[in-house]
Amino acid sequence: MYICSIIYLFAMKRIVFLTGAGMSAESGISTFRDSDGLWEQYSVEEICTHDAWLAHPAKLLDFYNMLRRKYMNCKPNEGHRLIASLQQYFDVKVVTQNLDSLHEQAGCKSVLHLHGEMMKARPDGPDRGVYYPLDPANPDIHMGDQTPDGVQLRPHIVFFGEAVPNLERGAEIVSTADILVIVGTSLNVYPAASLLNYAGSQVPVYVVDPKPVTSPYRTFTQIRKGASEGLGELVKILVENK
Ligand code: APR
Repeated sequence: MYICSIIYLFAMKRIVFLTGAGMSAESGISTFRDSDGLWEQYSVEEICTHDAWLAHPAKLLDFYNMLRRKYMNCKPNEGHRLIASLQQYFDVKVVTQNLDSLHEQAGCKSVLHLHGEMMKARPDGPDRGVYYPLDPANPDIHMGDQTPDGVQLRPHIVFFGEAVPNLERGAEIVSTADILVIVGTSLNVYPAASLLNYAGSQVPVYVVDPKPVTSPYRTFTQIRKGASEGLGELVKILVENK
């Protein structure tokens, strides 16, 4: 039985989803660069850079404590559920720029977070892959909250100006795709946007996004719709051609 499952998995095509903020927009999480996006309301330099963290850590902790509590009220949308539903037909891998855990909550088994995870903390200093899950009953991080060996905790978020430790793993995953689907990212932020470059030249690439998206690396088939509606259309096509 177990051997049959392994053989079946090898026979499945691999779909890699590269997702961004638009994936979670219908769950009530703001995107970054739309007209009502987060970076219209707050300055990136003040809130999301390595220098800002060094200059005023307490202010950043307060900001991400506020944002974390908003994220905690959000639930997966139909788009997240559609991606999870494809696991019965395909080997599905998700590489996301999002900090929320909505893919996991929808049931996706393989999710790589490029820019960190809102519900985890890590020690200040270089990211050494040590993360602490935050308690949903008491999720805030404050100045003075420390690891057992006395290092200040900070959000597990990759700020601008910091390395992206999961980039190499993300590139490996994209390089193994039989089909690549990009959902809800403006492809404006590097190095994440460069992951497209790692898909094989014959790999079909689909984009689901209501606004036109372009990339210097590839042309693709775009479905100009929101995540739920657009993925509804795409999933039918993918399942019919599996
Ligand atoms: N469904 C699908 N896509 C949507 C929807 C929706 N309902 N609503 C908006 N979008 C699209 C927008 O058209 C836009 O192309 O989502 C995209 C969001 O782009 P950005 O705001 O730039 O977000 P993202 O690409 O995820 O940003 C990348 O930038 O600030 C950093 O670290 C942050 O991970 C983030 C990174």
